[in-house]
Amino acid sequence: MRMYRELAAWFHLLTHPDDYAEEAATYAAIIRDALPGATTLLELGSGGGNNASHLKRHFTCTLTDLSEEMLAISRTINPELEHRQGDMRSLRLGRTFDVVFAHDAIEYMTTPDDLAAAVATAFAHTRPGGVALFVPDGTAETFRSGTDDGGHDGPDGRSLRYLEWTLPPKPGETIYEVHFAILMKNGDAVTVDHDIHRHALFTKADWIDTLQTAGFEAIETPELDPEVHEEQVAFVCRRPD
Ligand SMILES: C[S@@+](CC[C@H](N)C(=O)[O-])C[C@H]1O[C@@H](n2cnc3c(N)ncnc32)[C@H](O)[C@@H]1O
Repeated sequence: MRMYRELAAWFHLLTHPDDYAEEAATYAAIIRDALPGATTLLELGSGGGNNASHLKRHFTCTLTDLSEEMLAISRTINPELEHRQGDMRSLRLGRTFDVVFAHDAIEYMTTPDDLAAAVATAFAHTRPGGVALFVPDGTAETFRSGTDDGGHDGPDGRSLRYLEWTLPPKPGETIYEVHFAILMKNGDAVTVDHDIHRHALFTKADWIDTLQTAGFEAIETPELDPEVHEEQVAFVCRRPD
């Protein structure tokens, strides 16, 4: 996906760190409820570091992502945080954290095996008694096709606007596509890009089964405010002591 490679330098004009303040406050509260003394947090697929820019007020955050370009963008707003390159399906840092967090990046797990591998990575990095929080953009039950748009003006003369079109899966399939039409203005020059992202529909039961198979217990799905979280679903769970 060009968005996380060639276009990564535009990411904070596509989705700005300020846009994440409310949802990050929800995640901090869910984590505090589940583990009041939590201090260390590992994020899988931290992207532009937008959530982390808020979560770091509550936790000592370690950020990981597949894309070096996205880690570089995250460092511009989170220079004090540890950043490590790695695929959430195979990452092994050799240490554990009070909390492992995976947000919308988990949407890029498009097969049950990929999802199981990412959840196994989370389990391997959660200390005994620690918690993991997964917040996919939705499940098969909450999925909605449709369009969205947005974008921001930067302080450096660059601006970006996008149209995001979520297409329904073909009949009998679980993979669906999200098409982005992205207009990027740099001074007087305007360029356009069409980026296609592929995701998969997992049911709530698929999620719970995958978490249990990995070894997590006490799985809960706390209510999220649809005004803030739209179709997102949260799964919070514990690694046994
Ligand atoms: C929408 S961005 C995440 C934005 C993030 N929630 C934030 O707060 O800025 C999705 C990220 O998932 C990352 N990603 C996709 N597949 C991945 C994988 N297998 N392992 C780790 N990161 C992955 C991409 O590189 C991208 O940075």
